[in-house]
Amino acid sequence: MTPSQTLITLFIFSILSFSHATTAPPKLPKPKAIHLPIRKNQTTSQYYTTFVSGHPESPTIIDALIDLGSPSVWFDCTSYVSSSYNRIACGSSKCKKAKGSFSCLTCDSTPRPGCSNNAYGIFVYNPNPNYLTIQELGEDTITVYSTDGAYVWFSYDAPKFQFACADSVTADGLPGHNTKGLVGLARNENSLPSQLSSYFKLAKKFTLCLPSSSENGLGDIFIGGGPYYMLPSIEDQSLSLVTTPLVFNPNGPRLLSDGELSYQYFINLKNIEISGKHVAFSPSLLSFDINGVGGTKISTTIPYTILHSSIYKSLVQDFIKESSLKKIKRVQSVAPFGACFDSKTAPNTITGPAVPNIDLVLEGSNVRMRLYGANSMVEAKKNVICLAFIDGGVEPTTSIVLGGHQLENYVLEFDLTASTLGLSSSLLLKNTSCSHSRVY
Ligand SMILES: *[C@@H]1O[C@H](CO)[C@@H](O)[C@H](O)[C@H]1NC(C)=O
Ligand SMILES: *[C@@H]1O[C@H](CO)[C@@H](O)[C@H](O)[C@H]1NC(C)=O
Repeated sequence: MTPSQTLITLFIFSILSFSHATTAPPKLPKPKAIHLPIRKNQTTSQYYTTFVSGHPESPTIIDALIDLGSPSVWFDCTSYVSSSYNRIACGSSKCKKAKGSFSCLTCDSTPRPGCSNNAYGIFVYNPNPNYLTIQELGEDTITVYSTDGAYVWFSYDAPKFQFACADSVTADGLPGHNTKGLVGLARNENSLPSQLSSYFKLAKKFTLCLPSSSENGLGDIFIGGGPYYMLPSIEDQSLSLVTTPLVFNPNGPRLLSDGELSYQYFINLKNIEISGKHVAFSPSLLSFDINGVGGTKISTTIPYTILHSSIYKSLVQDFIKESSLKKIKRVQSVAPFGACFDSKTAPNTITGPAVPNIDLVLEGSNVRMRLYGANSMVEAKKNVICLAFIDGGVEPTTSIVLGGHQLENYVLEFDLTASTLGLSSSLLLKNTSCSHSRVY
């Protein structure tokens, strides 16, 4: 063949393949990562996501509370209609894998999702009224979106996704009138990221970017790893994360199974510094005792970090001292906060009010999470900003529970294979945030 014949052959071939492509629907490429949005309810300071569940012809949009500490996905099935829903039968291999309860459920009324016979029951937890119950395990197709780290692209079906089809009582107390379920992100096989990573054959990692407000853009759950673009910054945030080990609480909550590791996310906080100076408290509070008491946990359902009383008292005292050196005027406290200031004496900067920095020093070489004013302070009323930490009393199970306000506008990458937490510096320093539109 001469070069021109080759060209013609190629040309004809491309016409043929093009006409073929117009008759059959194009096959989508395998997604490199999955994205779910995060909204924040300002009244309750809770974060929730949205996904679509059910047969494509009768899809139901589900708003669900995000809970790092919960092992399952569940929603109120009272009005859920889907022809592709199946309950998981008692004694099946899927039951064993789900590691739920030892219960087999029956239902007397008209069968529907959530009211089946011979249905396997799993534990379902609602953190708001602190309610634990056993509900029907089922599976159905959910629809999620792929991402390139900057925009969301195509929708993909994830069939046989497992969740609990719960009764309406279980969903009572969830924040927001539309939130009717919960998305568990814990480190077990049935959590949302584990199921999606496994179905789409993605890396076993997920990433949170919690927004301080979702009025002008939404936050992110990325499943499967980076890149992570936080426009207008053109930097890939996955390249500049520092990492600290995710540690196991020897006696933390676990699923029913021998030798199972606890499923919540603990990190090894080594000390706290304010303006570079150590906050004094007993180091033993930072490790676990034989009953699993102590240590540091990350939570998305607690709005403000809760500290063991003795850590709290030192932190407040040292913060007041360092603030007075900066001529920040103290005013009467607004409950539940212990130290409040006149915001006019702490001028606003790109990272929030100009108050002393609080560094959380973590295991690893020079790993610290630096909290600036935007994350350490909260506006309690007009012209009054308060140190946004809560006194957890003298006998909390966990000494430090890092809460949502302190995690906002950071990239937090949970790598379940390496068992590490990857952490960015505050996105506010880079003139960006966790609030974005990712619709191309
Ligand atoms: C936020 O939560 C409150 C309390 O549950 C609810 O009344 C309100 O409607 C929610 N806001 C939105 C935008 O969902
Ligand atoms: C941050 O962004 C604002 C508005 O987009 C711009 O005016 C400002 O110059 C930027 N600052 C830095 C430090 O990049």
